[in-house]
Amino acid sequence: MKRVKYLSENLQETKKIAGEFLKKTHPQSKSATVVELIGNLGSGKTAFVKAAAEVLGLKNTVSSPTFVIQKIYKLRNKEFDYLIHLDAYRLENGKELKILGWQNILSSPENLIFIEWPEKVSDILPRGTKRVFFDFVSENTREIKYET
Ligand SMILES: Nc1ncnc2c1ncn2[C@@H]1O[C@H](COP(=O)(O)OP(=O)(O)OP(=O)(O)O)[C@@H](O)[C@H]1O
Ligand SMILES: [Mg+2]
Repeated sequence: MKRVKYLSENLQETKKIAGEFLKKTHPQSKSATVVELIGNLGSGKTAFVKAAAEVLGLKNTVSSPTFVIQKIYKLRNKEFDYLIHLDAYRLENGKELKILGWQNILSSPENLIFIEWPEKVSDILPRGTKRVFFDFVSENTREIKYET
């Protein structure tokens, strides 16, 4: 496994990094692809999902799901059929996600799932997730790392 590390100095660069990440991210045979986004408040997790959504052809749709926990977007003519954005910040454990149909969502290879604050729901995360790490460096600079 190779770990890559980027410094992003603006949203356009974050979009390029998200694009590189997506190039290396393909559907699995038996279950959804789960991407854990790990980093502090304001470190750029939501910005990364927005950027990935743009790369995947969605326009101005992704906003922070903090208050609704989960949002589902239909993708057109992509390797994945759905982008699912979850924010577990307000959850204490995975129970509420189970109520939202988590097992079902997880069982579909056509789902690409981005989850902010995965630490909160570690009890229901499957094995073999992908992890992206975010660090606030300065006002407009973020460090973004992931394993490939
Ligand atoms: N290089 C950059 N890459 C990404 N975001 C940046 C960058 N520079 C500045 N920002 C800004 O940093 C903020 C990141 O906020 P964002 O909501 O993505 O954080 P978050 O990690 O999702 O936080 P939370 O845990 O509160 O959900 C945005 O306002 C974004 O515009
Ligand atoms: Mg966020």
